[in-house]
Amino acid sequence: MNKLKKIFLNMASVKSADDFIDTANKSELKKTLGIFDLIILGIGAVVGTGIFTIVGVAAKGGPEAVGAGPALIISMVLAAVACIFTALCYSEFASMIPVAGSAYTYTYATMGEFMAWIVGWILMLEYAIGNITVASAWTGYLFQLLKGFEHVLPSWLVNPPMWLINDYRTVTILCKDQGLNIKEQIPYLFDTIPIAINVPAIFIVTLLTILLVKGVRESTRLASIMVGLNLCIILSFVVFGAFYVKPENWAPFAPNGIEGILSGAFIIFFAYIGFDAISTAAEETKNPQRDLPIGILGTLTICTILYILVTLVLTGMIPFSMIDTHAPIAHAMRFVGQDKMAGLISAGALAGLTSVLLVYQLGTTRILYAMSRDNFLPKILQKVHKKYKTPHVVTWLSGIIVILGALFMDLNISAELCNFGTFTSFIIVCVAVLILRKTDPDRKRPFRVPFSPIVPILGILSCGGLMIYSLGSLKTSAKLFPLWVILGVMFYFIYCYNNQRKNENK
Ligand code: ALA
Repeated sequence: MNKLKKIFLNMASVKSADDFIDTANKSELKKTLGIFDLIILGIGAVVGTGIFTIVGVAAKGGPEAVGAGPALIISMVLAAVACIFTALCYSEFASMIPVAGSAYTYTYATMGEFMAWIVGWILMLEYAIGNITVASAWTGYLFQLLKGFEHVLPSWLVNPPMWLINDYRTVTILCKDQGLNIKEQIPYLFDTIPIAINVPAIFIVTLLTILLVKGVRESTRLASIMVGLNLCIILSFVVFGAFYVKPENWAPFAPNGIEGILSGAFIIFFAYIGFDAISTAAEETKNPQRDLPIGILGTLTICTILYILVTLVLTGMIPFSMIDTHAPIAHAMRFVGQDKMAGLISAGALAGLTSVLLVYQLGTTRILYAMSRDNFLPKILQKVHKKYKTPHVVTWLSGIIVILGALFMDLNISAELCNFGTFTSFIIVCVAVLILRKTDPDRKRPFRVPFSPIVPILGILSCGGLMIYSLGSLKTSAKLFPLWVILGVMFYFIYCYNNQRKNENK
C-alpha cells in the first residue's frame, strides 16, 4: 500500500515555477525575439492549411463529417471564441513562467509529473502530427502552382505518378474516386508492400530542419518574408473576390443546421492553432513578460478578422456545394474566371504553408528539448550546437518524426488528430490557470486573465464541448486519439517514471 502511495506521490510531484525560471535563465539559447518577431512567428504558425485548404471541407463537408455551408462564418466565430478564452490563459502563464515548453511546462508547475508528460506527449500531436497535415497540403499547392506553368515545364514534373506525391491512404482514396485500379498505379516491394511516398513533403521538411539547425533568428527572418507575402495574397483574395460575391450564394445559410456548424467549428479550429506556439519561444524572447501576451493576443485578433473576411468572400463567390476541397481559395478564383489570380494564390498558399511548417518544427523541438531537460526523454536531446547555439539533435529528431508520419498519414486524419490534441492541451492550460491561482496566489502575474474564474471555465467548456461532440461523430481519428494517449501512458511507466527516480537519486 505504501509503495502505491509513493508512486502516486511521485506522479503528482510538481516542479516549481521558480525552478523552471532558474533553469531557463541558465539556458544557452540566444534571446533575440521582440514583439514584431513574435507576431510574425504567430501569424506564420496560424495562417496556413486551415484557411487555404481545410476551409473547403469545413464548408462543404468531408467523408466523415457534414459541412457548415455559408454558416461557416458562425463556426469560425465559435472556434475563435474558444481560442480567445484559451489565449488569455496562455498569456497569463507565458508572462508568469516565460520558459520553453508551453502547456507542458505550465502543467508540470501545477498538476505534477504524470500529467506534464501526458500533455507533452499530446502536444506532439499538435505540433508534429499537425505538421504532417501542413506538409501534405504543401505538396498539393506546389502542384497547383506547377500546373500554371504547364506549357514551359516538362510533363514529368507537372504530372508525376501519384505514388511519388501522396501517402498510401490518399492514393487509395484517389484511385477509388477516379475508378482506377490501385495495383496498376503504384509499385509494390516484393510484390506485397505498396510504395507511396510524398516526396515533396519530405523534401520541404528536410530543408526547413536544416534551416532551423542554423538558427532561430535566420528562420524568423525567412518566416517574415513568407508571412508578408501570405498576408498580401489573402488580402487580395478578399478585396478582389468581394467584387464577385453574389448574396444569393449565402442561402441556404446553414444547410446542415447546428450539426454542420459544430462540425465546421471543430474542423476549422485547425486554422487557429499556432498562436500558442509563440509561448514555446519564450526563452528566446528579449522581454517575455511584456511581449508574449501582446504577441499571442495580437496574432489571434489579426487572424480572426482575416478568416472571417475570407469565409464571407469565399462562400459568397461560389455555391458552397461547388467549393473545391483541395485548393478552395484558388479554385474559387478560377470559378469566377480569374486564372492568374488563382496562380498567385497558390504561390501565397505555398509561402503560408512553409512558414507554418517552420514554426511548428520550432515548436516541436522546443517542447522535446524542455521534456528532455526534465528527464522525461534522454539527455542527448539537449545538446546545443557549438556554432549555431541551437538544439540540433532534437531538431533533427523532430524532422524525422514528421517525415516518418508523412509516409503513413493523410491530411484529414492528421488534422483531426491535431485538433483533438490541441483541444486537450488548451483545456489543461485553462485548468492549470485556475489551480495556480489557488496554490500560488501571490506569484507576480504581469498579465492576468480577466474575470477569472469565468474566462478559464468558458475556455474549458467551449473546447471540451467541441471535442466531445467530434469524438462522437468522427470515426478514424476519434479512435486513434485515445490510442495515442494510451501509448503515452505506457511509455511513462516503462521509461519516464524510472528515469525520473534515477535522476532524483543522483
Ligand atoms: N493553423 C495552422 C494552419 O492552418 C496549423 O496551417
